[in-house]
Amino acid sequence: MLVSATEMLKKAREGKYAVGQFNINNLEWTKAVLLTAEEMRSPVILGVSEGAGKYMTGFGTVAAMVKAMIEDLKITVPVALHLDHGSYEGCYKCIKAGFSSIMFDGSHYPIAENVEKTTELVHAAHQLGLSIEAEVGSIGGEEDGVVGMGECADPNECKQIADLGVDMLAAGIGNIHGKYPENWAGLSFETLAAVNEKVGEMPLVLHGGTGIPADMIKKAISLGVAKINVNTECQLSFAAATREYIEAGKDQQGKGFDPRKLLAPGAEAIKATVREKIELFGSANKA
Ligand code: 13P
Repeated sequence: MLVSATEMLKKAREGKYAVGQFNINNLEWTKAVLLTAEEMRSPVILGVSEGAGKYMTGFGTVAAMVKAMIEDLKITVPVALHLDHGSYEGCYKCIKAGFSSIMFDGSHYPIAENVEKTTELVHAAHQLGLSIEAEVGSIGGEEDGVVGMGECADPNECKQIADLGVDMLAAGIGNIHGKYPENWAGLSFETLAAVNEKVGEMPLVLHGGTGIPADMIKKAISLGVAKINVNTECQLSFAAATREYIEAGKDQQGKGFDPRKLLAPGAEAIKATVREKIELFGSANKA
């Protein structure tokens, strides 16, 4: 069932768990995430960065694939199809393509411009029943060409953006896209607590979910985080399982080169990662 992320995140925030956003890259990724969410009776968000959308030939292709797959696989849990770190133009493209949720990442604009563009996009999204995420502060590191310095969000600016009627808010709290460096200082719970205090019941979003230790995840959820984004970790699991298959020479045994065989261990590895995260985030049996 393709839905906006509004209800699932409201429920998650109230129930003190988080819904996972798993970024998709192709058919295998989408299928693995959907089947795992269904198996665990968990709501789920499929994240699509602008780079991944382009890779999959366009947002129209992605929306058509996801909708058809939900039907063909008989997925009954709530699924949101969400643009990740969208530009202003990208948001409109996804609204047109039939996504059910968008993120406008205006964090690199001065706050007044972020407010202005977010206001307009909130209106455009809500008119058609889509949910919308905004960002304040920035997520460190790089994801598909989106680079952030990782500055912590200003709680007052968070309140300003939350008051525009967004459905979820990403606040930079020392989180980073990709692997965390050895010397990472950890999440700034001081910032998260201050943001949470200011924004009331707004579901908060934790980006850079790859490699955050379980105790930090739990603490973040207790401070209002209701959506956690995971991208790199599925890529690492997929790559490791595929490498193992090829290094064991399995692609050269019988018809082991058949893509349905060659990509199977990677797909299973994505499922295992998604399963582990759904358990940690507490969203199993919440569909
Ligand atoms: P990771 O790649 O670090 O898991 O981050 C994912 C993310 O935040 C997507 O927006």
